[in-house]
Amino acid sequence: MFASKVGAILAAAGSAVGLGNVWRFPTETGEHGGAAFILIYVLFMLLLGVPIMVTEFAIGRHGGKDVSDAFEKMSGGKKGWRWMGLIPVVSGFLVLSYYAVVAGWTLYYAFEALVNGFVGKTAEQFKDDFNTFSSDSLHPVFWTTLIIALTCGIVALGVQRGIERGSKIMMPLLFLFILVLVGCSLSLPNAHLGLQFLFQPDFSKVDSSVILSAMGQAFFSLSVGLGCLCTYACYFRKDVDLMKDGLSVAGIDTLVALLSGLIIFPAVYSIPGLSPDAGPSLVFVTLPNVFQQVFGSMPWLAYVFSLVFYLLLVMAALTSSISMLEMSAAYFHNSFRLPRPFAAVLVSVVCVVLSMFCSWSFGDWSDVKILGMNFFDLFDFLVAKFIMPIGGMLMCVFLGWVVDKQVLRAELTNNGTIRSPLYPLYRFIIRYFAPICILLIFANELGWGK
Ligand code: ALA
Repeated sequence: MFASKVGAILAAAGSAVGLGNVWRFPTETGEHGGAAFILIYVLFMLLLGVPIMVTEFAIGRHGGKDVSDAFEKMSGGKKGWRWMGLIPVVSGFLVLSYYAVVAGWTLYYAFEALVNGFVGKTAEQFKDDFNTFSSDSLHPVFWTTLIIALTCGIVALGVQRGIERGSKIMMPLLFLFILVLVGCSLSLPNAHLGLQFLFQPDFSKVDSSVILSAMGQAFFSLSVGLGCLCTYACYFRKDVDLMKDGLSVAGIDTLVALLSGLIIFPAVYSIPGLSPDAGPSLVFVTLPNVFQQVFGSMPWLAYVFSLVFYLLLVMAALTSSISMLEMSAAYFHNSFRLPRPFAAVLVSVVCVVLSMFCSWSFGDWSDVKILGMNFFDLFDFLVAKFIMPIGGMLMCVFLGWVVDKQVLRAELTNNGTIRSPLYPLYRFIIRYFAPICILLIFANELGWGK
């Protein structure tokens, strides 16, 4: 059980805030035209993300020990729902395996920044270095294994000593780092062009793929539909206001994403010729180059800026990967009565093996394609654009149609002890709006009805 309400919010915010905000959000925004994408993304956050987050909280807090147990308890003890709760456990492996690859890159870049490895490099060298590093068979696997080991260590320590304490230390630090970096970035030449890109929408760029991507980004960024938040909610105290916490976590998450945009895009525009749509390499090729070029005459500033930025990425990644590992580890710990550290190591070992497939997608296995995608892209697609939205939809249907209405209301009002003015709207969304909306977006993407 989390010892405090603040600990619960910070842990859930830690799960939400991650590479999705600092790496994926700028990448997706850059590739999908900036402000218009952001507007649609924020809309999805509010209309789908928050209600699904509250749904996860309600299922988890109802008395389950882990996500699978939570589904069974919420259904009133029907064993069949325990099986549905196994989907998140399996997804946990999938998401951590590919997430840890990028998290491993961030750890390597933090190390490079620490030993002043960026100094004096040209744009071309940054590109070559990234390609050489990411396509190597062993080097990135080492860093991925290291980040999974760190995650495993924190999960093994337990809910209060590991997850809650880790979040309480890392989340405030993360904010501090972000604010320092935003300040530096906004003072760069041409920063206003970055702001324009972020805040001036161009709706001519919006098509169905932008809508699916914005939905995927909203789900990914909030970690909803996957079961991580449901697992954390199993450790929430009974006096936590689920609706308020859901809104707070979504607010923190959106703020961090926008602030990350405020760090990255002004920096990108500060050097003529660089483009915001550089894709996934934006923070590993474009940015270190920017740091060196812009602060070249003040090497200590380039050093500090780079180090703080990559440490920020590492912490953001860690607080999220912890929730992914916890989801599966908690299941094995409870259901098979394995000691917590052993369950954490077991899940970690499987994830390390799977993560190699994803890592090698950038090198030896770049030609191995399933459904036209390499393993890394396939895992990203499956997680963000398939498992999360479908998982979120199923959770809404479960809570909106299967679970007794009184049980749901009692959970959201803490047994009638708090007011929940948004309850009717929330119930409408999980019963009708969210399932229909998600289905329509999928139907459109699959070309049905055309
Ligand atoms: N929500 C997590 C992130 O944004 C997965 O990185």
